[in-house]
Amino acid sequence: MSKTVFITGASSGIGLHTALYFYDQGWNVIATMRNPDKRKTLLHEKSLPDLVHLDVTDGASIQTALKYATDKYQKIDVLINNAGYAVYGPFESSTPEQIKKQFETNVFGLMEMTRAVLPIFRTQQDGLVINITSMGGRIGFPLYSIYNATKWAVEGFSESLQYEFKSHNIRIKTIEPGVIKTDFYDRSLDRSENNFENDPYAEILQRAQKSLGEGSMGSGSEPFMVAKAIFRAATDGSRRLRYPIGLDAKLVNFLRAILPSQWLFSILEKFTLG
Ligand SMILES: NC(=O)c1ccc[n+]([C@@H]2O[C@H](COP(=O)([O-])OP(=O)(O)OC[C@H]3O[C@@H](n4cnc5c(N)ncnc54)[C@H](OP(=O)(O)O)[C@@H]3O)[C@@H](O)[C@H]2O)c1
Repeated sequence: MSKTVFITGASSGIGLHTALYFYDQGWNVIATMRNPDKRKTLLHEKSLPDLVHLDVTDGASIQTALKYATDKYQKIDVLINNAGYAVYGPFESSTPEQIKKQFETNVFGLMEMTRAVLPIFRTQQDGLVINITSMGGRIGFPLYSIYNATKWAVEGFSESLQYEFKSHNIRIKTIEPGVIKTDFYDRSLDRSENNFENDPYAEILQRAQKSLGEGSMGSGSEPFMVAKAIFRAATDGSRRLRYPIGLDAKLVNFLRAILPSQWLFSILEKFTLG
């Protein structure tokens, strides 16, 4: 019998590639997204049969989508919490509303989704939760303080949950991508606009802009690679918790393990701000 995966934020980027990859491997794929009708017209090459409306900040849509999945396939084997975006810019320039929305989506939405699937996983005495965090969930990057805070939160949440899940045969993993070429740095970036007369953060913003312009994104990995890595994590049968994806994410982890923190921060500053 085919296995079933339930994915949030499957309209584009990592979520979409992951949905298509699992589908190609013969899985039932519940590809959830905020606007499935819009997506249907875009998915002309391969048609995923189960495009389902779900906004992670809307509890009712989570319940409806889960009911659709269990009514149709009886079992859910893997939940992939992928939906997310980033607030970018100096903390002082961000608004409380931006911060709340960021946490509502990346943290509270993910928690609500996880809470909703747990009764299903406990009844099955089987299930795997895969949270898409980031290499920014293990180390802080300049001007991503709010986004990084959400991803660190999900890392801590996941690391702690593994213990209480164990007796119900539920596993949890985090996928920590480095820079991936998706819409993330375009439509999924919510910039914090400053209203200062003379912007006290102009210098760091300019340095970051210059560094980004010089191609740190150009060297990003393809979303297809993340999809493959997620599939491997979903099927390796292990209790391994963390999966850094991409050379940059692996390098950051390696340097974090071997270098004194201040050395690592200097390297990171040089790399990201020039
Ligand atoms: N790209 C990278 O370099 C990178 C690196 C590390 C981690 N990540 C993480 O990877 C995940 C996917 O990002 P991506 O790179 O694939 O970017 P993306 O192509 O912009 O995809 C983001 C997805 O999240 C969805 N989303 C946002 N808010 C949502 C909400 N309230 N409810 C449901 N879905 C929502 C978007 O849906 P709509 O189409 O409706 O907007 C979209 O499907 C994110 O969690 C991101 O933090 C990305």
